[in-house]
Amino acid sequence: DLSTQIAGVALDSYIMNASGPKCTNLEELTVIGESNSAAIMTKSCTIAPREGNPLPRYQDLPLGSIQSMGLPNLGYKAYLEMIPALKQHGKPVVVSISGFSVEDNIEMVSAFQQSDVDLIEVNFSCPNIVGKAQVAYDFEQTEKSLAAITALGDKPIGIKLAPYFDMSHFIAMANILKRYPVKFITCINSIGNTLVIDPITEQPIIKPKGGFGGLCGEYIKPIGLANVRAFRQLLDDDIQIIGVGGISNGVDAFEYLLAGADAVQVATCFEKQGPNCFQRIEAELALFMANKGYDCLADAKGRLKPL
Ligand code: DHB
Repeated sequence: DLSTQIAGVALDSYIMNASGPKCTNLEELTVIGESNSAAIMTKSCTIAPREGNPLPRYQDLPLGSIQSMGLPNLGYKAYLEMIPALKQHGKPVVVSISGFSVEDNIEMVSAFQQSDVDLIEVNFSCPNIVGKAQVAYDFEQTEKSLAAITALGDKPIGIKLAPYFDMSHFIAMANILKRYPVKFITCINSIGNTLVIDPITEQPIIKPKGGFGGLCGEYIKPIGLANVRAFRQLLDDDIQIIGVGGISNGVDAFEYLLAGADAVQVATCFEKQGPNCFQRIEAELALFMANKGYDCLADAKGRLKPL
């Protein structure tokens, strides 16, 4: 039994799509609705529709990918209008919002608070907009934004965080989160502003930002695991954690469970392999746990053993 819940919203399984790949338009979101993804998660939206950054802006790598999409999306009103159709799939719908200011986020959260969406994930960590810092690396801005967006209604709000690499940053962010009614955090976004060079052409492999982009996939799993583990130890149980970063099989998903994840999201593997990945990872996780004698997620959740 891999059922779980986030902020009281029941999920039939532990595994859903991440905001990012193949979740921008109704056709793509319908494919997710018809897959074994535990929820339908949308691409991060902005106030206005966006084309995104110049191409090429995504490249596969041997163990993942690098991307600088630049928030291509249909604008939040299109997602608001899609919610009734998405809800027909009979699973939770999660909207991701990524405003360029506190005011943008207030406008979008307010609108989705009045909708039928199940959860709202506010993205504080998009690394790919020229001239815009990642909110999650600015603790003052994070606090200001959190204070505003958690006061707009009763629908559960979560925050998509950037990866942190220093214990003082985990502690500072955990202490901010504790002061607001945040129901979940999603850890981690891609590792921002990495550079992959093609030595043959002597060029970067993506166009935007001189080749700087978010690193995704298997490369980042140890960082994702550390972030989930650190926040699980620092936060109280009233804030849940969705793990994301390099999950491409059932054992990856199990490692996030040990670190303390309540659910996980899959991005690069879904991009590369398509919607059958959700069912495959689920079956692999169920088998791995059954072989260990675990009946449900709670049997292993957060139970990383000391060495
Ligand atoms: C994009 C990338 C991200 O990592 C993110 O959190 C939001 C948007 C993008 O480039 O579209």
